[in-house]
Amino acid sequence: MPWAPARSEPNRIAEAPRCPVVAIDGPSASGKSTVAKSLAQALGIAYCNSGLVYRAITWGLIAKGVTIEREPVFKTTVRQMKIECQIEGNELHVRIDGKEPGQEARSPEVNAAVSHVAASPWLRKRLLPIFRQLAEEHSLVMEGRDIGTAVFPATRYKFYIDADPKVREQRRQKQGETDSIEDRDWEDRSRTAAPLRCAADAAFLDSSRMTVEEVVRRLLDELRKRGFPLPEGPSAP
Ligand code: DC
Repeated sequence: MPWAPARSEPNRIAEAPRCPVVAIDGPSASGKSTVAKSLAQALGIAYCNSGLVYRAITWGLIAKGVTIEREPVFKTTVRQMKIECQIEGNELHVRIDGKEPGQEARSPEVNAAVSHVAASPWLRKRLLPIFRQLAEEHSLVMEGRDIGTAVFPATRYKFYIDADPKVREQRRQKQGETDSIEDRDWEDRSRTAAPLRCAADAAFLDSSRMTVEEVVRRLLDELRKRGFPLPEGPSAP
């Protein structure tokens, strides 16, 4: 897996995050969540699913009957929301006005609306400092769509995980979800603000024919090559 600095990428901030961050991006059902969780566990650091933040906000908006199309109301409602993102037990927890959405973050209503909400440049800009703040105190594996390109462009530890669309569709069905990942992927790739892209300096991996363990092993090898501070001792990965 080659590594080259992505000097031409827009939005690149000069400063590296204070704590080491592993950025994992990729489309829906590419296997990145399972891999990111497992990798974070192997490294003994926090696992952050950035999609959960967009899902929690969408859940909060739906509860208030607000859609992205009602733009002034959308912005006012988000401004009034108390959005809390905290690492607890080595995992990101998101609360909207003091409540966690739980399973409702994956409801069909949220599935249908979340990519429209996530397409808002205004919202994405508002969330950047919230995501970045997490790396002030915690080493992280953060997964999403723009973690290596927009949220932590200066991290050296970045991956893009993809899989064959048929494999992804099957994985989605196994998870018991029936939403169209094709539509959501199209939305995520074609939006103007931080669209889903493989960063030029990300290691690319096609997970279609790989087990989770194989992918995690490849990621650990690459992290070692890139100088990630791996834990030492008998249980070291
Ligand atoms: O990973 P997920 O399916 O839970 O993400 C939900 C939605 O949020 C999906 O449409 C992609 C979007 N998202 C995003 O735009 N940027 C991120 N960093 C994470 C998720």
